[in-house]
Amino acid sequence: MTKMVLRLSIPGAAPDGAPQPHPVYGLQLQQQGTLGVVPAEGSATIDWIEVPVTLDDGAVVRLRRPTIRVEALALGDLGRDVFMSARIAPPLAGLGHLEAIPAAALHALAARDVGDGIRGRVNRIHGGYTVGRFGHKANVASLREQVAIALHEDLGLTSELFPEQNCPHIQFDCARQPPGRRPEVGNDQLDDLVAFLRAEPPPEREVEDHATIRLGATLFRTMNCVGCHVPRITPDAPEAYTDLLLHDLGDGLADGRPEFEAGPRDWRTAPLWGAGAAAAAGARFLHDGRARSLEEAILWHGGEAGDARARYVGLPQSSRSALIRFLSTL
Ligand code: HEC
Repeated sequence: MTKMVLRLSIPGAAPDGAPQPHPVYGLQLQQQGTLGVVPAEGSATIDWIEVPVTLDDGAVVRLRRPTIRVEALALGDLGRDVFMSARIAPPLAGLGHLEAIPAAALHALAARDVGDGIRGRVNRIHGGYTVGRFGHKANVASLREQVAIALHEDLGLTSELFPEQNCPHIQFDCARQPPGRRPEVGNDQLDDLVAFLRAEPPPEREVEDHATIRLGATLFRTMNCVGCHVPRITPDAPEAYTDLLLHDLGDGLADGRPEFEAGPRDWRTAPLWGAGAAAAAGARFLHDGRARSLEEAILWHGGEAGDARARYVGLPQSSRSALIRFLSTL
C-alpha cells in the first residue's frame, strides 16, 4: 500500500458531519513515523481475491477484490467498530476546471431525471453549507482544502486550515515533538501549491476519429454511461465525463465508511478524461485501485449503475472493444 492511504473512522460523525476519527489512530493510518522518535502507527497490506465474471457471450474476465490487513499496530487493536477505506491518489490534471464549475450547476444536475433509477446527489459538507467536489466521496470543497488535508494527513504538516499537530490525544510521543513553524506551511506556500494545481491543464484528448470510436461513443451514450459520466457540465467547461455527484454503486464497491452525506456505498463519479493515457501507462482504476483495466472498472459498477453494467455484459465482443477504444481516446 505504498501508493495508497488507509482512511479510518468509527461510527458517528464530528459536529460538522465529517467522519468521526478513530480515538487512537485518527483519520488515516500513518505507515511511517519519525525515525527513532515516533514509531509508525502500523502497516497495511491488501490481499487480492480473484472474482471471475462471465459475460453473456461466455467470455470470462477475472476481477480482483481487495481485503485489507493491518499489522504491527503500535498503539493496540483498531477495535471492531472501525471503518477502513483504502484510497488511491486521483489524477491531478485539470482540477482547476472542476473547481470553477458553479455549485448551482451541480445542484441542477442532481435535480435531473436521467433514467435507470440514477439519482446523483451533491455531498453537502461542513455542516451542510458547502458543496463537496473533490475526493472519491466528494468530501472536499476546494483545492485549497484538498492541499491542506494532504499536507496534514499524508505529510504531517500544519497549515492555516489545520493548525494543530496531527497527533491523536493518546499519542504522547507525537505531541511532544516540536513543530517546525506555526504553521509549518505558510499561506504563501499553500497559495503556491494551489496555484500550481489550478494551472495544470486538462488531459489532452486523442484526436483520432474512425468508425470504431464513433460506435464506442454512441454506445457510451445509449448505454446511459452519460447518466453519470456527463461529458461536460457547463458549455464552457472542458469534457471531464463526470457529474461530480455521489451515486450508490452497490455492495461490490462499498467501503462501509460514510463521509458527510456520502453513504457507505456512495462514490463520486470518477472523471474519465485522461483514462486512456492512464490505462496505457498501467494506472489502476476505481477508488482503491482494484481495477487493472477500463473493462474491469466497468464490471465493478453496480447499484445505480447496475443497468449500464448489464448492458456492457450483454454486448458482443466487437462492441465491447469499440466502447473501450472510445474510452481510451478521452
Ligand atoms: C450511476 C452512475 C454511473 C454510471 C451509470 C456509470 N458510471 Fe462509471 N463510475 C461511476 C462512479 C461513481 C465511479 C467511481 C467508483 C469508484 O471510485 O469506486 C465510476 C468509475 C468509472 C471508471 C473508472 C474511472 C477511474 O478513474 O477510476 C470507468 C472506466 C467508468 N466508470 C466507466 C463507465 C462506463 C463505460 C459506463 C457505462 C457502461 C459507466 N461508467 C456508467 C458512476 C457511474
